[in-house]
Amino acid sequence: MHFQLSEEHLMIQRAARDFAQNQCLPGVIERDDKQKFPLEQVMQLADLGFMGMMVDPAYGGAGMDTISYVLAMEEISKIDASVSVVMSVNNSLVCWGLETYGSEEQKQRYLTPLAQGKKDGELYIGAFLLSEPEAGSDATSQRTIAEDKGDHYLLNGTKNWITNGSSASVYLVIAQTDVEQGSHGINAFIIEKNWPGVTVGAKENKLGIRGSDTHSISFSDVKVPKENRIGDDGSGFRFAMKTLAGGRIGIASQALGIASGAFELALNYSKQRKAFGKEIMHHQAIQFKLADMATKVEAARLLCLKAAWEKDNKIDYTLSGSMAKVFASEAAMWVSTEAVQVHGGYGYVKEYHVERLMRDAKITQIYEGTSEVQRIVISRAILK
Ligand code: CAA
Ligand code: FAD
Repeated sequence: MHFQLSEEHLMIQRAARDFAQNQCLPGVIERDDKQKFPLEQVMQLADLGFMGMMVDPAYGGAGMDTISYVLAMEEISKIDASVSVVMSVNNSLVCWGLETYGSEEQKQRYLTPLAQGKKDGELYIGAFLLSEPEAGSDATSQRTIAEDKGDHYLLNGTKNWITNGSSASVYLVIAQTDVEQGSHGINAFIIEKNWPGVTVGAKENKLGIRGSDTHSISFSDVKVPKENRIGDDGSGFRFAMKTLAGGRIGIASQALGIASGAFELALNYSKQRKAFGKEIMHHQAIQFKLADMATKVEAARLLCLKAAWEKDNKIDYTLSGSMAKVFASEAAMWVSTEAVQVHGGYGYVKEYHVERLMRDAKITQIYEGTSEVQRIVISRAILK
C-alpha cells in the first residue's frame, strides 16, 4: 500500500488547479450573485476532456481513472462548486450510465458527443431525472409513467430539481412502466430536450451552487422510441441506484473541495489578520479550529480516494462511496462554517469567498441522497 499520487495524477491535479484559478476564480462572485450558468467554463472543461473523463476514448472520452476524477473535482470545487456540479452530473450520472448500460447505438449517438461535452461546436451535456415533487429519498414511489404502446412508450409526468435542466440537450429519465411490479417495473430512457411534449420549468432561486441551473421538467405525451430505453425491461431502478453509487463519489469529492478550499482560505487569513497584538494564528482557539479542519479534510480525502480506488479496481464501491459522501459533506458544512468564524465579520461578506463556500456546502448533504439516505445505505451494508 502506498499513498503517493503518480506523475500522471499530479499532472491532472495541476491542470485542474490551473483551470480553477485562471478560469473559474475570475467572475465567481458575480456568477453566484446573478445565478449565471458558467457556460464559458464548461466549454473549457470540455476542451480539457473533463466532461467525459472516465469514458473510453472510443466513445469520445478521456480514458482517465476515477482517482483522476476525484482530484479534478476537488480542485475545481475549491473555487466554484457550480462548475463542478455540472461536470459531476455529466461524468457520473450521464456518461457512466450510458457507457455501462447503453446499447452500441446509444453510445454512438448520445454518449460520444456527451463525453466530449460538445456537438458541432455547441455545448452538449446531459441531465439525470429521478426526483419528483412527491418522491425524492423515496425514489421508488415516483409517478412519472412511460406507457408501453407497442412500437414506442408514451411518457407523462414531472421531474423536480433537475441539475443542468435547461442547459442539457439529453435527459436520462427514470419512469414507471408497470406500477404493480414496484422497483422492478421501472425503466430508464434517453429523452431529447427538444422533443415535442417536453417543457422546462422556471429556474430555481437557490441558497448555493447558484450558477448551476436547476429546473423542473414536465413530460406530456412524449413519444419515446423503443430503442431509447436503456438496458433490459424493468432494470431502471437498479440502473439509477448503480449510477448514483458512482455519482456519490463525485459529490463527495465536490464536498471535499469545498472543505479544502474553505480551510486554505481560513489558514491564509489567520496568518494575516491581527488581534490583540499578534496574528490570530497565534491564538490557540484558532489553532485548534485549523487543526480540526485539516484533520477532517484529510479524512474526507482518504475516503474519496479509497472509494475511487475500489471503483477503478472493480470492487463494490457502494458502501465506500456512501461513507465518503456522508463524511465529506458533513466535513464541508462544518469546515466552511468554521472558516467564516475564523474570518470574523469579513467572512460574512462576499469578497472573502467563505460565505459562498458555506452556502454551497449545504447542498452536498442533500442531493444524490441526503445524509440520512447515506446512513440507510451504510447501515444496511454493515448489518447485512
Ligand atoms: N445496486 C443495485 N441494486 C440496488 C441498489 C444498488 N446500489 N440499491 C438498491 N438496489 C435494488 C435492491 O436490491 C432492490 O431490488 P430487489 O427487490 O430485487 O431486492 C431494489 O433495488 C429496491 O431497493 P430497496 O428495497 O433498497 O429500495 P428502498 O425503497 O428501500 O430505497 C434507497 C433505498 C437507498 C433509500 C433509495 O431509494 C435511494 O437511494 N434514495 C435516494 C435517491 C437519490 O439519491 N436521489 C438522487 C437524485 S439525483 C441527484 O440528486 C443529482 C444531483 O443532485 C446533482
Ligand atoms: P425528502 O425525501 O422529502 O426528505 C426530507 C427529509 O426527510 C430529509 O432530511 C431526508 O433525509 C429525510 N428522510 C426521508 N426519508 C427518510 C428515511 N427513510 N429515514 C430518515 N430520514 C428520511 N434530483 C435528480 O433526480 N436529478 C438532479 O439533477 C437533481 N439535482 C438537484 C439539485 C439541487 C440543487 C437540489 C436541491 C436537488 C436536486 N435533486 C436532483 C433532488 C435531490 O436528489 C433530492 O432533493 C433529495 O434526494 C432529497 O429528496 P426530497 O427533496 O424529496 O426530500
